[in-house]
Amino acid sequence: MKRTHDCGALRSHDAGQGVRLIGWIQSIRDHGGLIFVDLRDREGVTQIVLDPKNDAYGFPLSALRDESVIEISGKVRLRPADTANPHLGTGEIEVIADGFRVHNIAETLPFPLEDAKADRVNEDLRLTYRYLDLRRGKNLRALRTRHRIARSVRNYLDGQDFVEVELPYLFKTTPEGAREFLVPSRQSPGSFYALSQSPQQYKQMLMVAGVERYYSLARCFRDEDLRADRQQEFTQIDLEMSFIDREDIYGLVEGMMKIVFREALGRDIETPFIRMPFREAMDRFGSDKPDTRFALELVDLSAIFAQSGFKVFRDCLERGGAIKALNAKQLADLTQGELKNLEDIARALGAKGLAFIKAENGEWKSPILKFLSEKEREDLRLALRIEEGDIVFFAATEWLRACAILGRMRLECAHLLADRGRLSIPKDQFNFLWVVDFPLISYDEEQGRYVSTHHPFTAPVEEDEERLRTDPLRVRGQHYDIVLNGFEIGGGSIRIHSADLQSLVMRDLLKLEERTMEDRFGYMLRAFRFGAPPHGGIAIGLDRLAAIICGVESIRDVIAFPKTQKGQDLMAQSPSYAPEKQLRELHIRPVIS
Ligand code: AMO
Ligand code: AMP
Repeated sequence: MKRTHDCGALRSHDAGQGVRLIGWIQSIRDHGGLIFVDLRDREGVTQIVLDPKNDAYGFPLSALRDESVIEISGKVRLRPADTANPHLGTGEIEVIADGFRVHNIAETLPFPLEDAKADRVNEDLRLTYRYLDLRRGKNLRALRTRHRIARSVRNYLDGQDFVEVELPYLFKTTPEGAREFLVPSRQSPGSFYALSQSPQQYKQMLMVAGVERYYSLARCFRDEDLRADRQQEFTQIDLEMSFIDREDIYGLVEGMMKIVFREALGRDIETPFIRMPFREAMDRFGSDKPDTRFALELVDLSAIFAQSGFKVFRDCLERGGAIKALNAKQLADLTQGELKNLEDIARALGAKGLAFIKAENGEWKSPILKFLSEKEREDLRLALRIEEGDIVFFAATEWLRACAILGRMRLECAHLLADRGRLSIPKDQFNFLWVVDFPLISYDEEQGRYVSTHHPFTAPVEEDEERLRTDPLRVRGQHYDIVLNGFEIGGGSIRIHSADLQSLVMRDLLKLEERTMEDRFGYMLRAFRFGAPPHGGIAIGLDRLAAIICGVESIRDVIAFPKTQKGQDLMAQSPSYAPEKQLRELHIRPVIS
């Protein structure tokens, strides 16, 4: 059963050779006297010619079905010139089968595997039969691209003297993080592990241990609501280094990206990447992960409206807020439905309204026009470069919220413009940037308290340290995010390595209780008293990086067996019930439904 060639290998110079091929039947065409089969494996497709009158096969060809696995032996011959297929690597030849063996006859498939048809099939059905969906060329290619990314990361980091260390997945619960998966312990009744959200604490302990340069491709588990760029189980290129500063991480990661893009995609990317302070990213793009492949930048109008007769705007400024606007160039022909949708999105983000001005048919139309003076209109026209066909959106509220609302409008409008063919967002352009100078802590409205912008182990920027006690919201963290085409593909920081500073952040800023601190982080605080080196690191989301490199919308497309939005594996049918005996051992009472 040893094949001589894969299904993508044979060329015209192989004509006359005896070969043996194995693969899946991609299609069967009955041309009267002869049957043509396209035989496929992961490398390609070869046309096979079968003769239904050949008794040596020992199998009725009429019983063959698409996606059956067969093995053939035969001779390569040139196809008649007019039947050659220039779109196929093997298109100049075919194999006349004299030997033939069936390994597995496929039943009728639950959905067709040709890309054009399969792409329109309901994703749940495709995930239920994921092993069939994966058989499609583009999905197999995505897995192989992901493999090439991982391989070049390993080679690169090995070349930089990193040590790959596997760290525990069974960890413990950590406040201050994402929602976790708990695992009850059989041996310690009433106690739980938590699946590791990331190897953050362990990798810092490796630095205290003197490893100096650690990396791993680490699985992380977070019980989050899933989206196109989020899974409960995902993979990080996780690394940590001692005796470094932020510049070392930038250089290291830029070098890694250069090699990854060259090896996985054959593309040369430019380094170093732009660095943009968090404030500037929010102010110009309304996002801490700006997509800079297109402009549509936000404009601050607070100066123009300082003395405005429009109460909504003036009140907002008097309360210390900001007036920001976005000129969605050439989108004045927005439909009522599209406008309503934008307003709903803005309201969901906390906007009280979404004032707009449309420049259409030589005049401005707007529910707020009557409140604006001649001078304000002229200032607006200049500040926003308003031209016929434009629509401008306004947000008047606290600065950060105003930025975030319009940042979202910017993305929505970019898609509407792209759909209308008026804006191109090139898929094969890669705009990297570092977003830096995040505030160390920020106020979380949902929780009603201060939280770490990144995580509690991030060190403050040195010159801001003295403000920790007096004006903590203005302390910047030594945190950096790496952003690619509007996606946060990674984040990290220089860490705190002093027990006193770490306690100060946890106790005085985050207001953790003494007991929680001791329970959860006591070992870390102790470790920092036994000679902890200065250190820092980063984690890059491998799934997101692979999705962008493969040009797919969802990270599900670069994960072999992803979960659905509801967190289910439809193929294996998990999560599922557990037998009572097992539950009893774990001291869990079965839920009677
Ligand atoms: P952070 O939580 O920012 O940092 O995660 C780092 C990167 O991991 C990716 N990522 C995800 N990808 C898919 N699905 C998810 N649910 C998901 N959550 C995060 C993102 C993100 O940028 N320990 C720190 C890193 C450090 O400080 O070194 C950490 O985990 O691309
Ligand atoms: P009103 O005078 O409240 O009816 O508002 C007039 C217009 O301004 C409406 O189109 C509202 O959607 C819009 N608007 C109201 N408050 C805000 C705000 N804070 N930011 C932006 N637009 C607003």
